[in-house]
Amino acid sequence: MTDLLYWLQGPAPETAPPKVEMPPWGETKVVGKPLPRVDAYERVSGSAVYPLDFALPDMLHAAILRCPHAHAVVKSVDTSAAEKMPGVRAVITGKTPGADIPWFRGRGKWYSKLFDERARYEGDEVAAVAAETRAQAYDALKAIKVEYEELAFVLDPREAVKPDAPPIHDGTNRYGDPADYARGDVAAGFAAADAVVEGTFSTACEIHAPMEVHGSVVKWDGNRLTVWDTTQGVFEVQEAVAQSLKLPLANVRVIGHYMGGGFGSKLEAGKYTVIAALLAKATARPVKLFLTREEEFLASGNRPANTMTVKVGAKKDGTLTAIEFSSIGSGGAYPNGASTSFLATDLYTCPNVKARDENVAINAGRARAMRAPGFPQGAWALEQAMDALAVKLGMDPVALRLANVPKVSQRRGNQPYTSTGLAECLRDGAKAFGWSEARTRAKGDGPIRKGVGVASALWGYGGGPPATVVVKLYADGSVNVNTGAADIGTGTKTVMAQVVAEELGVPVEKIQIEHADTGTTQYSGPSGGSKTVPSDMPAARAAAIEVRNKLLAGAAEDLKLPVEELRLEGPDVVSAKDPSKKVAVTAVKALERHQVLVGVGTRGPNVEGKVISMFAAHFAEVEVNTKTGEVTVTRLLAAQDSARVMNRLTFECQVQGGLVMGLGLGRTEERVLDRQTGKMCNANWHDYKIPTALDVPAEQKVLSVDLVDTECNTAGAKGVGEPSTIPTAAAIANAVHDAVGVRVHDSPITPPRLVALLAGRGKKG
Ligand code: MOS
Repeated sequence: MTDLLYWLQGPAPETAPPKVEMPPWGETKVVGKPLPRVDAYERVSGSAVYPLDFALPDMLHAAILRCPHAHAVVKSVDTSAAEKMPGVRAVITGKTPGADIPWFRGRGKWYSKLFDERARYEGDEVAAVAAETRAQAYDALKAIKVEYEELAFVLDPREAVKPDAPPIHDGTNRYGDPADYARGDVAAGFAAADAVVEGTFSTACEIHAPMEVHGSVVKWDGNRLTVWDTTQGVFEVQEAVAQSLKLPLANVRVIGHYMGGGFGSKLEAGKYTVIAALLAKATARPVKLFLTREEEFLASGNRPANTMTVKVGAKKDGTLTAIEFSSIGSGGAYPNGASTSFLATDLYTCPNVKARDENVAINAGRARAMRAPGFPQGAWALEQAMDALAVKLGMDPVALRLANVPKVSQRRGNQPYTSTGLAECLRDGAKAFGWSEARTRAKGDGPIRKGVGVASALWGYGGGPPATVVVKLYADGSVNVNTGAADIGTGTKTVMAQVVAEELGVPVEKIQIEHADTGTTQYSGPSGGSKTVPSDMPAARAAAIEVRNKLLAGAAEDLKLPVEELRLEGPDVVSAKDPSKKVAVTAVKALERHQVLVGVGTRGPNVEGKVISMFAAHFAEVEVNTKTGEVTVTRLLAAQDSARVMNRLTFECQVQGGLVMGLGLGRTEERVLDRQTGKMCNANWHDYKIPTALDVPAEQKVLSVDLVDTECNTAGAKGVGEPSTIPTAAAIANAVHDAVGVRVHDSPITPPRLVALLAGRGKKG
């Protein structure tokens, strides 16, 4: 499994099984409905305070000096002039007492510090300044004199493994041995195939590019640190900051209310938080430190570039006989996961499979988990190979995939999935897209050619413990929900309010949510991995049911009726036998007496012996201008199996966003590193192209196949954030091939790249 999915490693912290009975939901009243966000007004009106908006009285502004070279020894740093600059209150380097802090700890000698003596990419931290204003802080950076000894650098993973490549950490740039996987007999499988295709594919490095840049506001109160952070996981930040500053966990409070996008880049703590804390300590002032947009491109993470070779064989009827897959990628100068093989080993039923993942260091910014780490890359290669196989077999690509739908996870010991919606996604998606008609339609005979493509996906993680949610019913009938989970823009708070409303019968408007604050909420894992709904909603449900049970028990005393006879109906507790016997919730004496009824819900373990995966099939229609190489995506349709949809509106929004992000991978996004200097050429939003409204097709549809899965968890929902972006780019590439008979192996499909291929190919075949 890709090591970016760090939450899959080692035993996860546990929470006890819930104390209440939770039969699967049937029809629901509130859950599933397309309710607008509970915080919609705050978000769109600008009144929501994001960490980037946040200010404290007496606050200083900080900035980081970064190495301008791809690889260099930091020989000396002279801060004396900077310290005398107007408004400057502190300057720190690796030599400042207390700033000699370990940061990256990889295998063996792979190690670096908060400010390392060796800078391994353009953007490595060298020093930092706190000043009265932001401008003064940036001015002071220019006054810091650094002596660098430039070193040779390497940018291409395939070059980095050669014996004469400049070593980035120790003798080898290989980050561990290649990770190998095998089942069956691949040679025999290919020998038994009627058709075999093989190709090498590559994906460009993508930057997360969230709207809100990374950063924190920090404040000391004695030896207690409070951090307002833009983060997907307050508890991850708490742990890293406490460890770096050698503080007890209890002395670090991390608050993460609103945040402007993360896509995985905000799953972990950033150096900026620790640097801000050091500057705040040195000055006895609160400090605000946010990255600039340029720093965001250089140093806040990325989806690594991968080069993948894939070979697929099948019988005439489409039955797969063998898959061979190999991948090389780089998590940057401080490696993180770069594996892409999972789909090749688990998406389709195939007895003979061999896969290899290689991860090497290069002199570039470090990868961080990015929306389905490794999977969109793997889909780009595998799903194009499947498309080529369908062409070779003369089979409909949907039919080829349908012939190989898995029922068990072959990569994970042949355990069955709790539900497998791939066939439904392919069938229902094809129908809703008008696949058959679109496939047989004329491609056009002018310079503009039309084509359609399909690709499918799975995402292999369905959440789990730990999660603890507290629900409080107040004497006036209003409700407070308390969760450690971050709402990263996906609607977590809204969905949780719906879950509680479902079980307590209170309207969503009467529910307030406290969340993502290590000082006041319970531990939850970071919001990532498409796991927030499947991990935290069962705990919310358990907490609400516990409160309901307490309320019904109180009403039973008041009404002198057996508790089994009572149920909640709107604002009243009513007897099922005799509806004239009832008591208003707010009149229940136990509630009056206690002023609040509290339920504590926990997330129990996942079902044993089964695995939880989400499935998807995406369909794309394109128009290719054969003269200019321009590709217009005219239609996209995403068919998703996430089991229960908790909120139609937030679900659709998630999938729309996934499609747009997939469009970026396929069509426009690419970190460009200069071969001569090792510096990033397009570290800005003008030259790094994320899709805009003009790139998004006018028709972009979302379909949920609405499978019932009562085993995945007690909410019956599997999650959606990541599977909604995995196959999009591959579907677009397949549509381009359908239109012009040319296969674009390297992402993104830019006009120059496609024009060259069209020219080489001559007439479309
Ligand atoms: Mo995601 S890459 O788990 O935020």
